[in-house]
Amino acid sequence: KQIIIPNTPLKNKKIMITAGPTQEAIDPVRYISNHSSGKMGISIAHEAAKRGAQVTLILGPTALKPELSSIRTVHVSSAQDMFEAAKTHHKQADVAIFSAAVADYRPEKPATEKIKKDQQVYAVSLVKNPDIAQYLGKQKRTEQFHIGFALETDEGSESAKNKLLNKNLDFIVLNTLLDPEAGFQKDTNKATLIFRNDEAIKTPVMTKEKLAKIILNQLETLIGTTEN
Ligand code: CTP
Ligand code: CA
Repeated sequence: KQIIIPNTPLKNKKIMITAGPTQEAIDPVRYISNHSSGKMGISIAHEAAKRGAQVTLILGPTALKPELSSIRTVHVSSAQDMFEAAKTHHKQADVAIFSAAVADYRPEKPATEKIKKDQQVYAVSLVKNPDIAQYLGKQKRTEQFHIGFALETDEGSESAKNKLLNKNLDFIVLNTLLDPEAGFQKDTNKATLIFRNDEAIKTPVMTKEKLAKIILNQLETLIGTTEN
């Protein structure tokens, strides 16, 4: 069966997507991580592939995986692994979408042997991980588009606007955990898309598949207005 993909602005565009959590080793059997399922990033990967884009998904450890064989998946574990993979793929990318829940810190010196419970108090010293979106925001060429996410436990629009500017994004998708329908390991999401000119689009509660469509529609509009 031949699938004919209509001529959309994303056809043959190279899209790099980071998704899922990262795992930061404490010792060979333990790690620090978060509740990200990768579902949002995988939904975007599917939708972009359906629109004819060449998708590279840089995916942290999660039980979910993309179903479309046309999506090239690069499996990574730690934030540093994800950073290396993202730097490699960003060079050729037309679009970068940063949906991963990257661990902000990692154990400074992971133990090489399993840590024994022979102390009453055990402290792990943590150091900051590279900010992938911010680093690549500095490398961003004028013809490239970057989209980021912000997860906040409060209202969060001020913080999201700062992230939009700090990371040199074209727009940012804000989720707040104040919404019971939004966030980690849910099938639905409710978001605010915030643009550089302070315009904002608030979505109702919807599936992550539907939100992926809205995000890519906005990306297509941006590509359309710069190409024409
Ligand atoms: N991000 C990233 N690399 C990191 C941390 C975050 O690429 N080391 C990206 C995320 O994928 C997301 C955006 O930056 O697109 C915002 O992530 P978020 O955790 O909300 O913000 P931080 O900048 O990490 O700030 P904080 O956690 O302190 O709110
Ligand atoms: Ca963070």
